[in-house]
Amino acid sequence: MKNIVLTGFMGAGKSSVGKRLAKRLGLGVVDTDDVIEEESGMKISEIFSGFGEARFRELESEAVRKVSALKDQVIITGGGVVLNPENITALRKNGVIVYLHASPETIYQRVKNETHRPLLQVPDPLAKIRELLESRSQNYANNDIEVDTTNLSVDEVVGEIINRIKD
Ligand code: S3P
Repeated sequence: MKNIVLTGFMGAGKSSVGKRLAKRLGLGVVDTDDVIEEESGMKISEIFSGFGEARFRELESEAVRKVSALKDQVIITGGGVVLNPENITALRKNGVIVYLHASPETIYQRVKNETHRPLLQVPDPLAKIRELLESRSQNYANNDIEVDTTNLSVDEVVGEIINRIKD
């Protein structure tokens, strides 16, 4: 079976959906943000504040190359993995790209009490979410399956992905 690669904006539900999907299908689960933190020995926020976003993106592409070589995995990606089209090309070799979509308001509700995402530590996070979603829309469109998670539970999203993968 091909890897299932979850892409989508922060707060789209990739982590919770990914873990449950892996359990349901008996697949392993790996998260590019976790790989970056393990390899660098730093938190994502420390990489951003100490070395900048560009360095983070390099480490992210290294993590993508590594996880792209794995088999039988649900691969959870950071929301900005799609910014480099080479990342998606690498992930697609062994995998099907599943884009989890949600409205800006839903994303805001899901992330507003969390502090670990440097890009959203700004005075007006909802405006930032809208701006980033808009600027990344072409990148997120590079997918094989798209699921709108706005009004769905985690289990419903998992069910939808399983149904769509069978087609
Ligand atoms: C980012 C998303 C984050 C993390 C980093 C940058 C982004 O991952 O990789 O903070 O650019 O959208 P999640 O989507 O898992 O929050």
